[in-house]
Amino acid sequence: MLRRQFVQAASLTAVALAMPLAYAADTFKIGLILPMTGQQASTGREVEAGARLYMAQHGDTVAGKKVELIVKDDTGLPDVAKRIAQELVVNDKVNVLAGFGLTPIALAVAPIATQSKTPAITMAAATSAITEASPYMLRSSFTLPQASVGLADWAPKNGIKSVVTLVSDYGPGNDAEKFFSERFEKNGGKVIEKLRVPLRSPDFAPFLQKVRDAKPDALFIFVPSGNGAAVMKQFFERGLDKAGIKAIGTGDLTDDEQLNNMGEGMLGIVTSHHYSAAHPSELNKKFVEAFDKANKGLRPNFMAMGGYDGMHMVYEALKATKGEGSGDALLAAMKGLKFESPRGPVEIDAQTRDITQDIYLRKVEKKDGQLYNVEFDVIKAVKDPGKTK
Ligand code: PHB
Repeated sequence: MLRRQFVQAASLTAVALAMPLAYAADTFKIGLILPMTGQQASTGREVEAGARLYMAQHGDTVAGKKVELIVKDDTGLPDVAKRIAQELVVNDKVNVLAGFGLTPIALAVAPIATQSKTPAITMAAATSAITEASPYMLRSSFTLPQASVGLADWAPKNGIKSVVTLVSDYGPGNDAEKFFSERFEKNGGKVIEKLRVPLRSPDFAPFLQKVRDAKPDALFIFVPSGNGAAVMKQFFERGLDKAGIKAIGTGDLTDDEQLNNMGEGMLGIVTSHHYSAAHPSELNKKFVEAFDKANKGLRPNFMAMGGYDGMHMVYEALKATKGEGSGDALLAAMKGLKFESPRGPVEIDAQTRDITQDIYLRKVEKKDGQLYNVEFDVIKAVKDPGKTK
C-alpha cells in the first residue's frame, strides 16, 4: 500500500517536472512590450488602454486560467525591447509576447519568439515584412501597403495628378512610399519627388519648403502615430494649403488621439486606413463609449484598436485550446481566426499570419463640434499587398 502510494506520488512529480512551467501554472501570462515613454509614448498608452479595456469587458479568467498582463516599457529602443523579451520568456515564462510600437522593435523581438516558440502579436507596428521575421509572429494592427494602395486608386480619380511623397525614413515609411507611388503611377499619376525625413526628432520645415517649390497637386504623407500634428503645423505655417497643395496620407496622419487638437485647417483632408473612432457600427459606438469612460475622455485611435483585437486573438486561442497554453497550439488556433471587430470584419490569414481587413477612405469633418475621420468609401477584405509580390 505504502509502496503504491510512493510510486504514484513519484510518477506525478515526474509528470509535473516534464510539463513546461509556463502552461502547468494556473496563470496565463501576456508580456506587453510598449513604448510607455519617449517619442512614441502615445502608442504605448493607447495599446495598453485597448488591451485593458478588452480584459475589463471579458473578465480575466479564460478556460480556467487567470490572465495576467505584464506591461514593460521599451522606451522605443529595439535593444531594450530585446532584453525585456528575453526576461519575459525566461524569467516570467510568458505564454504570449505582444505590443511592439515600432517596426525595429517587432523585428528585434521576432528571433526570441522563434527560439522560444512563443506567439508574438504585433499590435501596433505596420511594416509588411514583420510577419515574415518569425513563424510565431502574428498581427492585429495593419500594414502600410494595405493602407496606402486604396488612396493611390482614389487620388487620380479626384483631381490629383501629381504628388510629392514625404515619409519617415524607416520600414513603414519605405513601404508607404513604394506601394503608394507604384500604384499611383500605374493609375497614370506622376510622383515628382520622394522625400524621407528622419524618424527621431524630425525637422519638417526644410522638406516642406521643397514641396512648396515643387507645387504638386498633393503631398502624400506617412509619419508614425503621434507625429501627425507636428508635420501638419509646419504644413499650414508654410502656407502649403494656401498654395493649393492638398495633404493626403494614411490615417496615421490624422490619428484620432491628436486630430481634434490639430485645428480646422484639417477639415476636408482625405486619408485611407482601417480604423476610425467615427466608424458607424453599433459595436464601434459601444467600444468608443467604453474606452472614453475608462480613460477619462481619451479617444481611441487605431493603436487602441490593435491592442483590443490582439487581446481578442489571445482569448479566442486560449478558449480553443482549452487553456493548455502551449505556444504551438495557441499559434495554430490564431491562424485563420475570423471575427467582427469594432473596426469591421477581420481575419488572421492562415498562411501569412497577417490581418485581412476593410480599408476605408475618410475625410476630416466636424461632428458634434469635434473633428473626426468620417468614412465615405470602403475597400473590402484587403490582404497585405506586401505579401503577394
Ligand atoms: C511602425 O513603426 O511600424 C509604425 C509605427 C506607427 C505607425 C505606423 C507604423 O502609425
